[in-house]
Amino acid sequence: MHNKVKDSVIFVTGGAGFIGSYVVEELIQLQPKKIIIIDNFIRGSKANMKNFINNPLVEFHEGDIRDTAKMDSLIAGTDYIFHMAALRINACAANPQDGFDVMLKSTFDVAQLSVKHKVKKVIYSSSASVYGLAQHFPTPETDNPYNNQTFYGAAKMWGEQLFRSFKFMYGLDYAALRYFNAYGPRMDTDGKYTEVMIKWLDCIRDGRNPLIYGDGSTTMDFVYVKDIAKANIAALQSDVTDEAFNIGNCEETSLKQLLDVLLKVNNSTLEPEFREENSINPVSRRLADISKAKKLLNFTPTVSLEQGMKELTQWYFEKTAIKTNA
Ligand SMILES: NC(=O)c1ccc[n+]([C@@H]2O[C@H](COP(=O)([O-])OP(=O)(O)OC[C@H]3O[C@@H](n4cnc5c(N)ncnc54)[C@H](O)[C@@H]3O)[C@@H](O)[C@H]2O)c1
Repeated sequence: MHNKVKDSVIFVTGGAGFIGSYVVEELIQLQPKKIIIIDNFIRGSKANMKNFINNPLVEFHEGDIRDTAKMDSLIAGTDYIFHMAALRINACAANPQDGFDVMLKSTFDVAQLSVKHKVKKVIYSSSASVYGLAQHFPTPETDNPYNNQTFYGAAKMWGEQLFRSFKFMYGLDYAALRYFNAYGPRMDTDGKYTEVMIKWLDCIRDGRNPLIYGDGSTTMDFVYVKDIAKANIAALQSDVTDEAFNIGNCEETSLKQLLDVLLKVNNSTLEPEFREENSINPVSRRLADISKAKKLLNFTPTVSLEQGMKELTQWYFEKTAIKTNA
C-alpha cells in the first residue's frame, strides 16, 4: 500500500495526550516530512512526548485548539490531521460550556480550516460513548446513538456528523474512530477522574484490598493504546472515507474479571471488597463488533488484556517508584 505519511505534513491535536503520543510514535516510523502537534497540557504532558520531543521531524506548539488564528496558521500547509484533543467525559459534564468550546466549536474550526487549506483527510477520535447503552452486543456501527445521555457522547456524535456533512458539502475526506475503553502506559494517573485500574494498582502496591462499587458485573471492552494508535494509522493509509469504525478488543470484561486479571499479573492474593454503588451508571455493558474495521482497515487488536495489564503495571510501578524516590 502507498505510504501516505511519507513526505507529508501531519497535524496532531492533543499529541501530548495518552493516545495521541502513541500515534505520533507510529507516524515517525513512516518518514513524514513534519509532524505538528498542538496541546495545552490540560491532560497531556512533556513526559508522554519524551520519545520524540527532540526529534527534528516534530514541531510542538503549546497552545489551545480554541485559538482559531493559531489553528489557521498551523493547518495551512498540512496534508493530514489527527484530531484527538478533547475533554474527558466527566470534565464535559462538570463544565458544558468548556465542553462546547473544545469539543464542538474547535472541531468545527478543524473542519472549516481543513476545507480552507485543502487537507487531504481528517482522522477524528470519536468514542463508543456515542451509543450510550447500545442495542446489540457485540455492537455494530449501525446501532443508533439515541441511548447516549452524556454531553461528551453528544459532542462526539455531532463531530462525526459534522465531518459527514463537510464530506458532502465540500468533499473533505475523513474517518471517525469510535474507541472503546482505552488503557495502557501513559493513561492518566493523577487526575480527579483516575481510572479504576490505577486505583486498584495503588491498592496492590500498598497491600490494601481493592474496592469494587456495585457487584462488579458492569462490562467494558478494553483495548490497548498501541492497538488504537495502529488503527489511526490504518485509517489514514486506507482510501476509506466517510466511515465510522468501532475500535475495541472484542472481549467483554466485567470489572470483577478485570480485577482478577490485575491481581493475577501481580501475583496478588488480595480479595476485593464490595461497596454499595454511589452513582448510577447508565452504561452497564460494552462490547465492540470490529468486523468493519477488520474488513476495511485490516485492523486486528494484537495485545491481550493480560499482556496489556502487565505492561500497564510495570509502567505504573516504575513511575510511582521514581516519584516516591524523588
Ligand atoms: N481514553 C479513552 O478511553 C478514549 C475512549 C474513546 C475516545 N477517546 C478520545 O480519544 C482522544 C484522545 O484521548 P486520550 O485518552 O488520549 O485523552 P487525553 O486527555 O490523554 O488526550 C487529549 C489531549 O488533548 C489535550 N487538550 C485538551 N483540550 C485541549 C485544548 N483546548 N487545546 C489543546 N489541547 C487540548 C490534552 O492536554 C490531552 O493531551 C480524545 O478525543 C478522546 O475523547 C478516548
